[in-house]
Amino acid sequence: MSVTQSGSATYSGELEGSNAKRGLWSSRLAFILAATGSAVGLGNIWKFPYVTGENGGGAFVLVYLLCIAIVGIPIMMAEVMIGRRGGHSPVNSLRAITQRDGLKPAWKLIGAVGVLAGFLILSFYSVIGGWAISYVGTTASGQLAGQSADAVGAIFSGLLSSPATLLAWHTLFMALVMVVVARGVRAGLERAVSILMPALFVLLLIVVGYAMTTGYFGQAAAFLFQPDFSKLTTSGILVALGHAFFTLSLGMAVMMAYGSYLPKNISIAKTSITVSVIDTGVALLAGLAIFPIVFANGLEPGAGPGLIFQTLPLAFGQMPMGSLFGTLFFVLLIFAAWTSGISLLEPIVEWLEEKKGMNRVVSTLGAGFVCWALGIASILSLNLWADFDPLGFVPMLEGKTIFDLLDFFTANILLPLGGLLVALFAGWVMSRKAMENELALSPAMFNLWFVIVRFVTPVAVAVVFIYNLL
Ligand code: PHE
Repeated sequence: MSVTQSGSATYSGELEGSNAKRGLWSSRLAFILAATGSAVGLGNIWKFPYVTGENGGGAFVLVYLLCIAIVGIPIMMAEVMIGRRGGHSPVNSLRAITQRDGLKPAWKLIGAVGVLAGFLILSFYSVIGGWAISYVGTTASGQLAGQSADAVGAIFSGLLSSPATLLAWHTLFMALVMVVVARGVRAGLERAVSILMPALFVLLLIVVGYAMTTGYFGQAAAFLFQPDFSKLTTSGILVALGHAFFTLSLGMAVMMAYGSYLPKNISIAKTSITVSVIDTGVALLAGLAIFPIVFANGLEPGAGPGLIFQTLPLAFGQMPMGSLFGTLFFVLLIFAAWTSGISLLEPIVEWLEEKKGMNRVVSTLGAGFVCWALGIASILSLNLWADFDPLGFVPMLEGKTIFDLLDFFTANILLPLGGLLVALFAGWVMSRKAMENELALSPAMFNLWFVIVRFVTPVAVAVVFIYNLL
């Protein structure tokens, strides 16, 4: 993440300064790369296909796309705007704005929601990142060549059944994230994202190309894009809304932190839309890569979190140069997950530095250790504790393991809640003049955005919550 002052400027540790002192993104592109690095991750390639499969396809995808457009983009604009206006880390930005405009300091709560969400998400995110690391070896060794769906499935179950192996890869993933965050230096990351993200895109296209040869591409496209509303449930709508937040890294002040580095002359609307479109494009491509393989091999679309690890290896085992492409694919997936993981840990570390006055290395080690330890519960949910559903007495949560619960609680409750607070803050509390200034939109566009964050988003989130409670 290079900033104008010097390639190695940290964006943490300079919490007292104003925007000018902290250094700004070198360009609009730099911000887009960093924000895209956070947004594009396991959410797009691992989670989107499996939640789509579990929720019946087309109708779910349509609701998800609507959530991105109506809720996600406006909230991303609000987060970036609050960050830039505040010019500090999220908690201090909110404090700065509230103090300057004489508002209640309780809005700092948004930052606290973010810290909690970051802890919980990273704990299981890292376990899945570990699966991706493990699959680099699986593909590179060539053992997938020509394998049947059953054999590929057995390799995956073998991985899940070994807590020690899962722990080793989870540990490695956490270590990768912690090294970058502890150094606090983002130089190089920006360059890495600018090469690796396009490469991931190209590899996805290669898999889509292969998927077209399976003869099931049309069926997959119909599954994804022909809505069958009889398959849509209220919980599916909640999952679509939650996933829109998760995939765009919204609701936990990540975009607020990044926005505080955005130079004043750059359009918040255009940049937010660009990031959202790229993120959505990657998710849809992942769907188009995976579902033809699912149908061609008679697999179950609703197979759950293992979906991509049971389908992509099949494709790599069958396509020419599959070992090479497969290895590359999983390496790139690790990078996508890594840049997202960094953005999950960063707010926690910043918060510890500010609140507890710890230095960066100590706070990274402390926070990283807690996430790592919590991750062990997710690992055990996949094997020894697979039948343990601690909240099984709640009808909606029946049969959910600790891993499932962490995923559910963060993506479907915490992030939308964080987003709701952001919308309320922008829609009802912050000075309109300041927002007009920051967003620099035409009056009509500003009003459209304002009506959305003031009314549409809060009502949408509230309605989805209430429906699901009843
Ligand atoms: N957006 C990331 C993904 O899709 C996950 C994430 C969520 C990262 C929230 C930061 C904050 O994988």
